Amino acid sequence: MTKPLRIAVFASGSGSNFQALVDAAKAGKLDVTIGLLVCDKPAAAVVGRAQAAGVPVHTFRPKDYPSREAYEQELLERLREERIELVVLAGYMRIITSVLVEAYWGRMINIHPSLLPSFPGLHAVRQALDHGVKVTGVTVHYVDGGLDSGPIIAQRALAIAPDDTEASLEEKIHRIEHELYPDVVQGIAEGRIRFADNRVIIQPKDGIAQ
Ligand code: GRF
Repeated sequence: MTKPLRIAVFASGSGSNFQALVDAAKAGKLDVTIGLLVCDKPAAAVVGRAQAAGVPVHTFRPKDYPSREAYEQELLERLREERIELVVLAGYMRIITSVLVEAYWGRMINIHPSLLPSFPGLHAVRQALDHGVKVTGVTVHYVDGGLDSGPIIAQRALAIAPDDTEASLEEKIHRIEHELYPDVVQGIAEGRIRFADNRVIIQPKDGIAQ
């Protein structure tokens, strides 16, 4: 790993998590270079955020390619050109195939708005509300070939209030995400969080258990 760690962020929508990473890096709390934003929706708000932050952008339209593997092969070449060491999925709404999973095994992470393995997939916040669970949260995990199923790195729990709506709960979850994701990426940049011997290894910060 180089210092600062070179990361790419993949996002499809608003990009508030992308922004949290940019802001943390600017504030000196995150020792990484965001070398690339990858976005499958050229009109998404996250593209404007990247341009404003001076982060190079790679957009593409999946329907211009014969298969997922075909656009991922192109993405892989770009990631290699940019010497990307860690891929950070932040609201990237596409299935990842073995092309990227194998190339970035143990070096690709995702954030999901539930306490996995509960409520994987789309609309996780709504799923939790519909199910009537009293506690939900946020999970950061390494990416494997399944749907939100890879090895878990970190989780934060959150109590659901009786009057919570999908919007209010989403807002609370976003606030947690915007702290947790930069923290995890910083842990990886410092070498405290790693994936080795097929398991997640986490060394406490400053020798203090978290
Ligand atoms: C986040 O809630 C994240 O957990 C999920 O997609 C959402 C992206 O939000 N994977 P944003 O685009 O970062 O605002």
